[in-house]
Amino acid sequence: MRKILVFDTTLRDGEQVPGAKLNINQKLEIANKLIKLNVDIIEAGFPSSSPGDFEAVETIAKKFGDKAMITGLARAVKSDIKSVYESVKYAQKPLIHIVLGTSNVHVDKKFNKTKDQILDMGVEAVKYAKSFIPEVQYSTEDASRSEFEYLWKTVEAVIKAGATMINIPDTVGYAVPEEFGELIRKLNYRIKNVNDKVILSVHCHNDTGLATANTLAAIKNGADKIECTINGIGERAGNTALEEVIMGLKLRPEYYDADTNIITREIKSTSDLVSGLMGLDVQVNKAITGDNAFAHSSGIHQDGLLKSKDVYEVIDPEDVGVNNMELVLTARSGRHAFKNAIESLGINDVEEDKFDKLFSKFLELADIKKEIYHQDLVYLIEKNYNII
Ligand code: KIV
Ligand code: ZN
Repeated sequence: MRKILVFDTTLRDGEQVPGAKLNINQKLEIANKLIKLNVDIIEAGFPSSSPGDFEAVETIAKKFGDKAMITGLARAVKSDIKSVYESVKYAQKPLIHIVLGTSNVHVDKKFNKTKDQILDMGVEAVKYAKSFIPEVQYSTEDASRSEFEYLWKTVEAVIKAGATMINIPDTVGYAVPEEFGELIRKLNYRIKNVNDKVILSVHCHNDTGLATANTLAAIKNGADKIECTINGIGERAGNTALEEVIMGLKLRPEYYDADTNIITREIKSTSDLVSGLMGLDVQVNKAITGDNAFAHSSGIHQDGLLKSKDVYEVIDPEDVGVNNMELVLTARSGRHAFKNAIESLGINDVEEDKFDKLFSKFLELADIKKEIYHQDLVYLIEKNYNII
C-alpha cells in the first residue's frame, strides 16, 4: 500500500478564518495534539506576516521539530523566504513552502506581469530557498484554473531549480473530481519522468463542497501527499477536512490502495480541541467529527443497529475516538430501541401490557420534546413507576 504524507495547515490556512486567531500557547497546544495525531508535516504559520506568527513558528519548530517536519509559508520574495528559514531552522527536517500563482488571472491581474517574468520569479525563489535548506515545496497557486502547458513548464522549471515537493492547489474550489484526478495523473507521470523522488501534493478548497472528493481523486491518481485542516477549517468554505480523507482511505483500502500514518483514535479529541480554542463550532451533521456523525434516531435504523452495528454503521466510532454509538430516541424510535434504552437503566422483563403503556407515554413525551436523552428517560421511568 502507498503511504500518503499528511501535511496539516490548521495553524496557517485554518487560522486565516476570521475571528479564529490563536495566541502562542493555544498554537502550541494544537501543535502538540497534531503530533499525537501523527501528521507528517505541520505548517505552523506565515512567519513574515507578523512577529507573533514568526515566534509561533519558531517555537513550534524548537519544541516539535524532532517529531514532524515543520514549515511556514513564503511568497516568492527573499524576505519571506528568509523569514521562513529563520523560524523553521530549529526543526530536524525544516521545509520552506513557497507560493506563486500560475493562472492567467494571477499572472495578469494579481501581479500584472508576463508569464515568463512569473516563471523567473518562481525559479529564483526556489534557488534562494535551496541556499538555506534541502527541502523546498513549491505551490502553483490556482493551479486548477491554469493553462496546463504553462503549469507544467513552471513545475518542470522549479523541479530543475531544486524543489523537492510540488503542491497543486485548487485555490478557489473550482476543480471537479474526475478532472482534478486526471490533472494529477498527467502531472505525476511527467514529474516522475523528470525526478522520481519529487513528492506530488494537493491542496483543495471546499467552495462547492468537493474538497474531500477532489483530494481522494488525487490520491487515486498518484498524489503522494495531501494538505488539509482539522474540521476542514480555512479560507471561505474551508480546506479539505483531514478526518474525512483519512477515514475515506481507511474505509476503502482495496479501492485506494493507500494509507497514512495518522492515529485515527486521536481524531475526535483533536477536533474538539481545535473547535474549542478557535471558537468555531463543528456543524452537527459534519462527517466524522460532527456531534451527530454516529448518532442514530430513526426507529428502523435503531432496530437494525441493535441487531448488528454494521447494518447502518460503516465506521466504528471508537476508531476515531468516539466512545459510544449514540441512539437518540425520538418519536420515530421503535419499541426495540426503547426496550434497549430502558434496559440500560436496569428496567428489565416488563410485562407486555405494561410495556405498551410505558411505550405510549414515551411517544407522548417524544412528540413534545422531539429528542429523548438519558435524563428524559430517567424522568419518564420515575413518573410512571406505578405502571411498571
Ligand atoms: O489555497 C492556496 O492556494 C494556498 C496555497 C498557499 C497553497 O493556501
Ligand atoms: Zn489554501
